[in-house]
Amino acid sequence: MTDDKILEYFAKYIYDHTGIMYTDTNFYQLERRLQSLCTRFDAKDFAELRLMYSQNKTSEMHQLLVDLATNNETSFYRDGHPFKVLADEIIPSILVNNKDSKTLNIWSAGCSMGQEPYSILMILEEQFPELKSWRVQLNATDISTVALDKTESGVYTQLEVQRGLPIKKLMQYFTQIEDGSYQVKDFIKKNLTVKPFNLFTDTNGISQFDIVFCRNVLIYQNVENKKKIIQNLTNSLKPGGCLFLGNGESLIGIDSELENERHEKVTVFRKPVIGMSKAA
Ligand SMILES: C[S@@+](CC[C@H](N)C(=O)[O-])C[C@H]1O[C@@H](n2cnc3c(N)ncnc32)[C@H](O)[C@@H]1O
Repeated sequence: MTDDKILEYFAKYIYDHTGIMYTDTNFYQLERRLQSLCTRFDAKDFAELRLMYSQNKTSEMHQLLVDLATNNETSFYRDGHPFKVLADEIIPSILVNNKDSKTLNIWSAGCSMGQEPYSILMILEEQFPELKSWRVQLNATDISTVALDKTESGVYTQLEVQRGLPIKKLMQYFTQIEDGSYQVKDFIKKNLTVKPFNLFTDTNGISQFDIVFCRNVLIYQNVENKKKIIQNLTNSLKPGGCLFLGNGESLIGIDSELENERHEKVTVFRKPVIGMSKAA
């Protein structure tokens, strides 16, 4: 079997389990990544690695392949504006709308290594002291267990905290540990739940989130997959709840009930409340 055929096998495996596409234009990336699996499993070449995967695959082997296929690029307060809109407009309106239930449920879907959920939690801590008497829950999920382990630990290197985290917040919300890294303080983590979740998993019937962040995840997906993910995210939102996508991600070409709402430089996608749709 040629190396190209072997790469196609792994590309198909990755696509089937994550929706992430490797094609012959970026096979060189896949090749580099698979090299680390050869070393890990002592396979002499890709052909032997493929044989191992097709004949004796363990759950550890599956997860390692998924982990290496994902792109976990992220940073604190990435792109700035969505976090400003969250703090200035979205949370204040939820404080009014949910004043009876006193609940706030947020989902960071495709949270990568945790910078996104921690950015949200720092905003809640800093700007909304009234939430202390509310039931606040932030679910951080990803398909990569390496990323989730890092999210759970809340430990970041000097380089990682330098990417987007203002020094004042670093001093306030992190403790420096022996190796020079910084660990987020426990009181920031108290409303955080971290767990694996594949965005292709059906969320029908959940309808529990006031806010969903799913940023810079759709860019790696084709239109069909985007549709499935958007439907799942829509199902997970409460009526009136809103979705934040990444800069440059949109619902163009996707038939969705979500309504575009422009806030300064950010588009928020809102699930209509029945009987109150803009189109009605
Ligand atoms: C580029 S990161 C974005 C992180 C963060 N949301 C941000 O904007 O900074 C994309 C993340 O999506 C995750 N991901 C990719 N496909 C996924 C899937 N099918 N289900 C769940 N997470 C997925 C990857 O593991 C990765 O951590």
